[in-house]
Amino acid sequence: MISRRAALAALAAIPAIGLAETLRPSLTNDGPSLRALAGSRGIAFGAATANFELRQRDFTFALLRDCGIIVPEYELKRDLTEPVQGQIDFSATDALLDFARRHGLLIRGHTLVWYASNPPWLEPAVAAAPDERIFTDYVRAAMRHYAGRMHSWDVVNEAIQPQDGRADALRDSFWLRKFGPSYIDTAFLAARDADPSALLVYNDYGLEEEGAIHDQRRRAVLKLLEGMIARGVPVGALGLQGHLAAFTRKVDQRKLEAFLNEVRATGLRILITEHDVDDGGGPVDFITRDRAVADATRRFLDVALDNRSTMALLTWGLSDRFLKPESMREQLLRGTPRSLPLDAALQTTPMRAAIADALRNARPR
Ligand code: G3I
Repeated sequence: MISRRAALAALAAIPAIGLAETLRPSLTNDGPSLRALAGSRGIAFGAATANFELRQRDFTFALLRDCGIIVPEYELKRDLTEPVQGQIDFSATDALLDFARRHGLLIRGHTLVWYASNPPWLEPAVAAAPDERIFTDYVRAAMRHYAGRMHSWDVVNEAIQPQDGRADALRDSFWLRKFGPSYIDTAFLAARDADPSALLVYNDYGLEEEGAIHDQRRRAVLKLLEGMIARGVPVGALGLQGHLAAFTRKVDQRKLEAFLNEVRATGLRILITEHDVDDGGGPVDFITRDRAVADATRRFLDVALDNRSTMALLTWGLSDRFLKPESMREQLLRGTPRSLPLDAALQTTPMRAAIADALRNARPR
């Protein structure tokens, strides 16, 4: 078997298109690919990516080796798809969809109704809008454009924010202030109307770790989902983002297990949609950081993948290569963050080993 370094070196001379079909190894020097391991349990493994990342051949090879599903990190957000009101352009995501189709990958849609990453014209337009078409028209446009081609859709993203002080813990966003809590149901009903076959996901963060605010978030998300189901709103899954911290927070395995069991009891499926581990706030040395990142991933996935309703695991990026330190000080002190399955040189990290172990231990779906 050629070494991975030799394969990557050879890659530089070969056009990436078509390469993966012939060379996608299901085995690597580090054992089975994450795609193969996950697939053997009936789980889809993949990562968020972006068009600019796929212009790097070595990275593309690594992504095609390990990933069976991708999600646009940015290209399908409204500030990029509709920078001018009424002028919708999905071409950037079309390029990712074409890449996925050419290489036999699944792709998921992220995201349609969010309080962030919107074009500057949107919030004033919402304030002046006569009705919900300001977002239902957009939901329908996106879902019709990709009808039948998306694995799943994050229809509404991050609608919970207990710190905003509402009894229902809903985020006091410009969506809520204009339309009230019903905007969430309305978005899902428009999504179902546009694509009757799509898996519609409610996606949120802060559901995995210890702490009163995480307890509040878990309670609020469960209540939101149970209410939607009781009203016949077509939500099909919870998107558990899985943004963790290696040193400053800790996964609460007992509460996470109980929460996911309650989600499973509603009949919803579970997708881990954005897993990564912030390695800041602790020692600087790589070994300590890598070990703490892997431990956080292990604590999280040992619980999340043990739940038979969990059907997908995506990391928020595959390689540290494209991560930016939060500040120049962080850059000087710690260099590139070490938060993902592959480091900046595309070498496997202890986090990837922890993901592989958790997939091996997962019961088949
Ligand atoms: O592409 C433009 C570039 O042309 C421009 O020069 C540059 C400077 O303004 O901005 C670039 O766009 C940036 C984009 O990332 C692509 O890099 C946006 O400003 C920036 O806001 C955007 O940040 C993304 C953020 O969501 C907001 O969309 C992050 O990459 C992305 O990792 C982050 O992901 C979110 C999930 O969608 C939801 N859950 C939390 C998660 C992490 O924050």
